[in-house]
Amino acid sequence: MHLNKDEEKMLNGEYGEVTERLFRLLVRLGDIYKADKMIPVGSVQVAGVSYKSIGDPGTEFLEDMASKKAKVKVLTYLNPAGMDLENWKELGFPADFAKNQLRIMNAFKEMGIVVTSTCTPYLAGNLPRFREHIAWSESSAVSFSNSVIGARTNREGGPSALAAAICGKTPNYGLHLWEKRQPTIQIDVNADLKFNSDFGALGYYVGKQVKNKIPYFTGIKNANTDQLKALGAAMAASGAVALYHVEKLTPEADLVDKKGLEKIAVGKKEIKETYSKLNEGKKPDIVIFGCPHASLREISQLAEKIKGKKLKKPIWICTSRMMKEASNRMGFTEIIEKAGGNIVGDTCMVVSPIEKMGYKTTGVNSGKAANYLPGFCKQQVVFANIDDLVEGQS
Ligand code: F3S
Repeated sequence: MHLNKDEEKMLNGEYGEVTERLFRLLVRLGDIYKADKMIPVGSVQVAGVSYKSIGDPGTEFLEDMASKKAKVKVLTYLNPAGMDLENWKELGFPADFAKNQLRIMNAFKEMGIVVTSTCTPYLAGNLPRFREHIAWSESSAVSFSNSVIGARTNREGGPSALAAAICGKTPNYGLHLWEKRQPTIQIDVNADLKFNSDFGALGYYVGKQVKNKIPYFTGIKNANTDQLKALGAAMAASGAVALYHVEKLTPEADLVDKKGLEKIAVGKKEIKETYSKLNEGKKPDIVIFGCPHASLREISQLAEKIKGKKLKKPIWICTSRMMKEASNRMGFTEIIEKAGGNIVGDTCMVVSPIEKMGYKTTGVNSGKAANYLPGFCKQQVVFANIDDLVEGQS
């Protein structure tokens, strides 16, 4: 791989031990994937933030990096943490967990990382542009930025994203290259998609069918950005899909080569079967929306639906700190709290320790959350649309 003079300096330790160690990791990665060179990145999103995911070894690693004065070179955001960083006590997060989570956040802050924790950085102040090279980690954020924005990122692991943040570079391979962004399968959709959960069900089904491929969708007549984030998140979870195109809706759909693709059809039947497959049909102890993190539009929809009601069981909606602030100002938070729900910032149902908070059955409208909750949080899942979930709790 070609390295310029500055990159040679990084490799030779002229910018310190931490930069050298992390740059070596990027060079190794580039060699494995046959990258021709390093490219500068516009922003980074680092996963591996919750104490539940990284535990003591990860926490100590980050504290060691911070103590060695490692500093990021580009705008860097974090994936969700394991708790609401401000209201964790009121929401019942365990104190020993909180102590360790705050150690992690401090280490990130010392490195110059923006300590706002979200899987929708593009809604919270880290918005890449079309064709910008970035190094993001969280699978739904990777899918959204590649597919809906048309930025370019591979799905980075926690360490490679941190290395990109500190070195400001990433190896030029995979989805950074135009030829690797071409669709490899066509999905003809023939179903009415109304709720965000319909897009989640479609994404879950397609992800299982196509595994790692790049789908080109036809037949999706309309979708807002919330629905596209639900679609991409579910496909990323069930099939590691990091990029998809939707005819007439996503920015590269007109530009890519669609000739001669293998085709599969998805209709009402497949969507219905996916709902049944993901839904264990019990009564949820808690309903959690906001996977991926909710937009202000999703928060306002929930507020509208539960306004004036008294919930029998809790409803959470997970979101970024920025959306929570906007919701506070708009009065949505007050409406949701009056009904007995909560807006939970900085975390989500999968990376927070909900299984230790007494919850056994969780209702969700997200194909991604439905995919992960049984394994990560030992939850039974009720997968349904927002209307049915709210109806069941009120
Ligand atoms: Fe985000 Fe957590 Fe879902 S990180 S995509 S809300 S599993």
